[in-house]
Amino acid sequence: MSFYEKKWWKEAIGYQIYLRSFKDSNDDGIGDIPGIIEKLDYLKDLGVNLLWICPFYKSPMDDNGYDVSDFYDISEDYGTLEDAKKLIHEAKLRGIRIIADLVMNQTSDEHPWFIESRKSKDNPYRDYYIWQKGKIVDGKEVEPTNWASFFGGSCWQKDELTGEYYMKIFSKKMPDLNWANPNVRKGMFDMAKFWLDLGIDGFRVDAVAHIARSTEFEDSTMESTSKYKPDWRKFSNLPRLHDYLKEFNQEVLSKYDVMTVGEVGGGALPTEAIEYAGLNSNELNMVFNFDHNWCNNVWDLKNPEDPVITNLAHMKDMFEKWQTNLYGKAWNPLYWLNHDQPRVMSQYGNVNKRVLSGSMLATALYFMWGTPFIYQGEEIGMTNYPFKTIDDFNDVSVKNSYQIAISEGQDKDRFIGFTAHRSRDNARTPVQWKNAPCGGFSTVKPWFQVNPNYVSINVEDEQKDPQSLLNYYKKVLALRKHPDYMDTFVYGTYEQVLRKDTTVYGYIRKQDKHVLVITNFFDCSVDVKLDYHVRKVLLSNYNEQHYDLKHLHLRPYESFVVELE
Ligand code: NOJ
Repeated sequence: MSFYEKKWWKEAIGYQIYLRSFKDSNDDGIGDIPGIIEKLDYLKDLGVNLLWICPFYKSPMDDNGYDVSDFYDISEDYGTLEDAKKLIHEAKLRGIRIIADLVMNQTSDEHPWFIESRKSKDNPYRDYYIWQKGKIVDGKEVEPTNWASFFGGSCWQKDELTGEYYMKIFSKKMPDLNWANPNVRKGMFDMAKFWLDLGIDGFRVDAVAHIARSTEFEDSTMESTSKYKPDWRKFSNLPRLHDYLKEFNQEVLSKYDVMTVGEVGGGALPTEAIEYAGLNSNELNMVFNFDHNWCNNVWDLKNPEDPVITNLAHMKDMFEKWQTNLYGKAWNPLYWLNHDQPRVMSQYGNVNKRVLSGSMLATALYFMWGTPFIYQGEEIGMTNYPFKTIDDFNDVSVKNSYQIAISEGQDKDRFIGFTAHRSRDNARTPVQWKNAPCGGFSTVKPWFQVNPNYVSINVEDEQKDPQSLLNYYKKVLALRKHPDYMDTFVYGTYEQVLRKDTTVYGYIRKQDKHVLVITNFFDCSVDVKLDYHVRKVLLSNYNEQHYDLKHLHLRPYESFVVELE
């Protein structure tokens, strides 16, 4: 396929729904599928036409649905299969496509395959998961390897019944599937077909970077003070997984007009992304990387109260890396955050100047090439939650890490202070629909606390205010889809301007039109000079009608999009 070949998924505007926190329709405090149906008109009006919905399958909810116990049914928290069919139908009526979250790396320990697998070493399902014997070190049994889990501790869990260890790179209730077993692959492919036949338009493929693992099971030699080594390369981006993905593509995806976006996370290089999502690699259509998600000091803070400062030079390098290396070769998604990251307003924005900083962030990101994925609540400028104690958190990975930190003698308050900046729970508080109890998310106490700032940050108020962030997002998406400019934004070349400037991020998109995007990332004024002539102002977060690029005086967070002569 050529880069320029028109495809609906290259031109789509995506929106991610973390179902549990989106909208409760039946007053049980939990978001659900009918809640999404209720809000389809809102989403259409915003300008999105593709929804990625986080897992809705039956699950014990150890990791809020990424621990699936039945892939063929809907969790009773979220509704029924009939509700899912209705959602697909109602969305289609509004020109909105839906992709499901395909969880292929692991199941729940309550999935029938694992219930069988753990029964005995000769059970027919034993090899559906990754079992190893413990190692004897100094006369004592330890885990098969010293590899860490993403959620804290070892990536192995001992199962007393057979005395062996199963691999679990996430929580102990999420055993990893053994993709080397053809029956596992067939099981996963059949399940994917089931959902595609129901009418969904593709998948966000969860944790896809991990489905192949080093089968040597040798200890990591990584230098690290932790007992278990965070040597993710032992089970990330290994060559074997490309065989599995090609097979998935051939057996399933190639038979439908659908799209896939894989989660490859941290550490993947553009060359690897091209293997996953190259235009002719016959695997996935695009992959999420996390390179631009931590371009600040939140992991290096000396004290939790220290200010969070964006490292724009680093972020510009990351955009350069992905926008230029993949151009013409693969496709990119564009996103600021998902349900695994803090709120972008609290990362790179300014909670005291939400409309200016939020409109700057939207302008900076959504005119690059790639398929946008807005995360729920981003469009109204939702912020991080003011976490104070461990009981305020829900995330299993925070709970695990807290236990480990406290057992190692770390100070509780400092742990909470740092985690409050970094936790993915920040993105998971319920969407603030209006200034009403529970932020209008539900009529009863929700499963997770609502950010108290719903009184001033909510959809209803922003809908009424022409100067709101929500209304700016609508303008951004409308411009991106405008028939005169869409080809330029979707397929045009990308070139940064003011490359060395550490305050301003800007770039030119070129196709049949030449468009310049300029964004001042900080709460200060700055003067810059560019040698182009403006033909037309397309968008400005200061409502400016005229820009003289030779003498540009940018006000705090000032951002604009102009067509050049
Ligand atoms: C990535 C998902 O985005 C995250 O929420 C989940 O915890 C892990 N994969 C495990 O499925």
